[in-house]
Amino acid sequence: MPMNPTLEQMAAHRSVRRFLPTPVTDAQIEAAVRAARMASTSSWVQAYHLLQVTAPGRRQELAALCGGQAQVHEAGAFFVISGEVRRHQHIAAEHGASHAGNLETFLTVVIDAALFAQNLALAFESQGLGICMIGGLRNQLPEVDALLDLPHGLWPLFGMCVGHAAEVPDQRPRLAVEALWSKDSYPDDATLSAQIAEHDAEASQHYAARGLAGRNWSGGVVRKFAKPTREHLFGYYTAKGARIE
Ligand SMILES: Cc1cc2nc3c(=O)[nH]c(=O)nc-3n(C[C@H](O)[C@H](O)[C@H](O)COP(=O)(O)O)c2cc1C
Repeated sequence: MPMNPTLEQMAAHRSVRRFLPTPVTDAQIEAAVRAARMASTSSWVQAYHLLQVTAPGRRQELAALCGGQAQVHEAGAFFVISGEVRRHQHIAAEHGASHAGNLETFLTVVIDAALFAQNLALAFESQGLGICMIGGLRNQLPEVDALLDLPHGLWPLFGMCVGHAAEVPDQRPRLAVEALWSKDSYPDDATLSAQIAEHDAEASQHYAARGLAGRNWSGGVVRKFAKPTREHLFGYYTAKGARIE
């Protein structure tokens, strides 16, 4: 199997949630953004924005709004990753054109932003920094919006903590390659069950080693999707100009 520094970097990922107070420099951030912006982007639309939140007071408030996640204010840097159609709407207005939007637009924007964000994470990790993405940003989006004074056409999706790691967490195992990659046809239910059982066994060991015996991966999936969460999002994104239809 081929191996190279990029593959090794990617394989070394783990989310970091405890950080040293050392700041992340603008040079490190600029290098990361410069590289990350080269992510593939649907039809070259570049539909994303990165907002760095620097004021300590705001970071504290954000940490509370993200479900009390201390890493949001403790990390060397914190960013909000947003999909953005504001720039496109600005261009359309300057051309006297309309800017149509529908579910396809929403997906285009979210996919673009996610690809940029993962590139960004890797760019930071390649500089020896740790990262943790923060979906908790969507817990109370109207409050986050008011705190950061976000304009129309900007759709905050998740946050990213970046900094010098104060921990080296155990890696969380992933589904087997065969479970994620098939050729020509999708696996049948029996194969799916076997692959899930295999991953559960590995995840159980991971949990047990961290004092959480009895837990597994599929139990987490059951808990996560047992009932809908963050039900304010349709109203919020619609109010910010998204048409999710
Ligand atoms: C979009 C997104 C949002 C996430 N939100 C959070 C979060 O709010 N808090 C947190 O501690 N981890 C968060 N994570 C990190 C995941 O929990 C983590 O990636 C996953 O458990 C796998 O662990 P690993 O990254 O260490 O391999 C998020 C990850 C993604 C991709």
